[in-house]
Amino acid sequence: MNDIISFIAENKSRFIDELVELLKIPSISANPKYANDMDIMAKAVQKSLLDAGCDLVEICPTKGYPVIYGEKIIDPKLPTVLVYGHYDVQPADPIDLWDSAPFEPTIKKTDIHPDGAIFARGACDDKGQFFMHVKAVEYMIKEDQLPCNVKFMIEGEEEVGSESLADFLVANKEKLRNDIILISDTGMISNTQPSITTGLRGLSYVEVEVTGPNRDLHSGLYGGAVGNPINILTKMIASLHDENNHITIPGFYDKVEELPKEERAEMAKAPFTLEAYKKALDIDAVYGEKGYSTNERNSIRPTLDVNGIWGGYTGEGAKTVIASKAYAKISMRLVPNQDWNEITNLFTKHFNNIAPKGVTIKVTPHHGGQGYVTPIDTIGYQAASKAYEITFGKKPIPQRSGGSIPIVSLFEKELGSKTILMGFGLDSDAIHSPNEHFGIWNYLKGIETIPYFYKYYTEMKE
Ligand code: BES
Ligand code: MN
Ligand code: MN
Repeated sequence: MNDIISFIAENKSRFIDELVELLKIPSISANPKYANDMDIMAKAVQKSLLDAGCDLVEICPTKGYPVIYGEKIIDPKLPTVLVYGHYDVQPADPIDLWDSAPFEPTIKKTDIHPDGAIFARGACDDKGQFFMHVKAVEYMIKEDQLPCNVKFMIEGEEEVGSESLADFLVANKEKLRNDIILISDTGMISNTQPSITTGLRGLSYVEVEVTGPNRDLHSGLYGGAVGNPINILTKMIASLHDENNHITIPGFYDKVEELPKEERAEMAKAPFTLEAYKKALDIDAVYGEKGYSTNERNSIRPTLDVNGIWGGYTGEGAKTVIASKAYAKISMRLVPNQDWNEITNLFTKHFNNIAPKGVTIKVTPHHGGQGYVTPIDTIGYQAASKAYEITFGKKPIPQRSGGSIPIVSLFEKELGSKTILMGFGLDSDAIHSPNEHFGIWNYLKGIETIPYFYKYYTEMKE
């Protein structure tokens, strides 16, 4: 594979330009206003896979946005790698906080990315990362280095819960048959310390509505005499954590697996400086569940967070009013063994139980999914580890992430395959936030590393 370096050097500016073109398309799955851009994006993904050398690339319709399926089968007897990624992105809001327009990709240097980073919504999550695979496969096909079969499955609804993909998996088991699933949609510790994500958290996302009186009321005439839905909602939310920041929902922790001391000690060896962490976020203290470190709190422990809260008057000036309704969106990050449907039910029951008289409660579940942990004693993990080791000159550390890719647990259930999470993003890349970016070094390093995974995996599989 020594010519991969020169292949990248020769094609570097084209690789960047092609990614920039994809980043100009506002493929926001959450907002139906962008349905046409989703269509344009789907066609662009199809074209990129054909250009890379896939023999067959289909835009597969679903009840939502289409899944792009592509394949290059060189010999059915050889192993098959299935690459998963998503072409949809999060909404760019709040737009005002972007230094450059979210869909006008801009290259700038940063302290962490001295070679420059591409700033755009989706740069890291996940256009830049799935496109590394397209370019790596292009290299392997063009230079006759593809050692096994490859299939692509790039979906358009990851950021809204992958609802259609679940049906797609069930309906296309044979077509999707593979030996291992490969995903770049996570991060690594730093550019000098690679890591492989070995765990993802599950998710239960709910919306709550508290209804009091049948209309908004004058806060002077009725204040103090009628339950105020906003006061009540905030009090109910506050009661969901105790003084140790444990979640108070009965049964919430019943299935949470306590990690053995040895494994926690192993985790604690990953490089991390609390001071730098606080400084990067401009906070003077961290916060969280008693008895656990910051890295444990955001990976092996479940959490409950309000993601949005609204109600009443929020416009200019003051309006003296008691609103009839108050609302909140709440996410619970779950760890393996916690079942997201069960947790959603426990939440719903508890939230109804703690409501005082005088209000009614409605809990609407949104999407969710199970967590995932990958073993490291598999050839898939070993091949990924060797691939990073050769291109980074350093052995990657296994690391459990706090984020969620709910479909990964379904891959195992429906397709029977394990997933390897080879992420090349950094936590500081600001995914889902204003000024999301992806380092050019990271992008090219990904393209360089991926072919080694194919090589080692195929060798070890034989
Ligand atoms: N790529 C992210 C998940 C991620 C990022 C995992 C970094 C680990 C490290 C994915 O696109 C995402 O944002 N997932 C959502 C869940 C989804 C159901 C909306 C999340 O984690 O909030
Ligand atoms: Mn993603
Ligand atoms: Mn995302």
